[in-house]
Amino acid sequence: MHQPVLASQAQPSDPWPFLPGRFSLRVVRAQGSTLWTDQGEAILDAAGGAIVNNIGHGRRRVAEALAAATETLTYAVPPWSTPSREGLAARLREDWLPTKLDRVYFSAGGSEATEVAMKLAIQHYQAKGEGQRTKILGRRLSYHGTTIATTAVGGHDARKAGLGPLLAPFPQLETPYPLRCPAGADPEAQLTYYLADFDRVLAAEGPETIAGLIAEPIVGSSGGALRPPEGYWPAIAERCKRHGILLIFDEVMTGFGRTGTAFAGDHWGLAPDILVGGKGLAGGYAPLGGVFSHRGVLDPIAEAGLEVMFHTFGAHPGACAAAETVLAIMTEEGLVAAAAQKGAFLKACLEDVLGDHPQVAEVRGAGLLLAVELVQNRETGELFPRERKLTLSVLEEGLKRGVYYYPGGTGTVRDILCLGPAMTTTEGELEQMATTLRAAIDGALARHA
Ligand SMILES: Cc1ncc(COP(=O)(O)O)c(C=O)c1O
Repeated sequence: MHQPVLASQAQPSDPWPFLPGRFSLRVVRAQGSTLWTDQGEAILDAAGGAIVNNIGHGRRRVAEALAAATETLTYAVPPWSTPSREGLAARLREDWLPTKLDRVYFSAGGSEATEVAMKLAIQHYQAKGEGQRTKILGRRLSYHGTTIATTAVGGHDARKAGLGPLLAPFPQLETPYPLRCPAGADPEAQLTYYLADFDRVLAAEGPETIAGLIAEPIVGSSGGALRPPEGYWPAIAERCKRHGILLIFDEVMTGFGRTGTAFAGDHWGLAPDILVGGKGLAGGYAPLGGVFSHRGVLDPIAEAGLEVMFHTFGAHPGACAAAETVLAIMTEEGLVAAAAQKGAFLKACLEDVLGDHPQVAEVRGAGLLLAVELVQNRETGELFPRERKLTLSVLEEGLKRGVYYYPGGTGTVRDILCLGPAMTTTEGELEQMATTLRAAIDGALARHA
């Protein structure tokens, strides 16, 4: 077994991490899918950081593009054009975005981008004289970012804790969670159930008061790679269109190939009115988020003379150059297809080692966004007590064995381990991620045996 990497945790007297006692490691370098701590211990990164890294660490070509762009033009206010902004916008239009989405905005991260998307939906209707459309629909199990509005519209209980007085009440739909659907296991019954929930919320709120719906088409870590029953998204998209509700897909985690298609909406052939990206857009090489929309949404805002204020560090020339190079590598190396193929391989490995495990309720997900949900009782779905902090124990046991997983779940939803490695991860490494997860789960369970 590996030396315990937790030995390199920061001390309480250190200035970092910000909140003392929080889980932290000191990592000093990385290559491919492997990180190294200051103690020289190797950690296989099954989480791609925060499910960010897609082309692997340490690509000189990206670092050089970033350096060249920064040296040539260190900074320019975001509304201006620069070669690297133009290059990235062109690549996005040519190779990535649904054709309908012909305008791009760049922030410095996902939260800023989701908040811009929410603002656009409201401004769109204010500009069009439908001032009564003041609401954005969210979903109960979701995450859209750290700002006050994105925290409020989201459904991540743990990240809302202590913020109650600041958080405006947003109407919320149920998030499809097939494993625990109150309508049972039949996908048709589940579909009927979740659509009825949508219709009920719409009727209660009044469709004419709603500007937009923000949702992750496949839920990221808050629910652990949750995929709705087939037919859910096409039916919701049709209802949104019928009632003039702008559909905002938050693809900060799922976008840019993560689920085995360019965007998760592609699993259902759907292009939203507003698409939000982050994480995989620049693959961890630079901070960058994106909001992608079209004239139908944006022209009324422009015609009414409303502002869409920029973020000072949005569309940073270096970040745009890095992102363009990351996306070029994704295309040249066929990494979207690799996410589908390697994701299927990793899922099969996980099912192989965990399928018969009495504490594993489900292995789920799409492409290289996968999750394993642990339960006390597989038949009844009974959870482990929250105080047991099983997810954290599994994380620690994984690190002791040299693999990092991403914690999932929130509030009453637990214990979930997410996997989102780089698309360049080798099959041998993927196998190691699966077998180590079994050992880490057993190690964590043995702690309280
Ligand atoms: C779906 C989703 N939306 C928004 C965000 C926020 O992005 P950021 O952390 O870059 O601000 C995240 C981050 O995990 C996310 O997963």
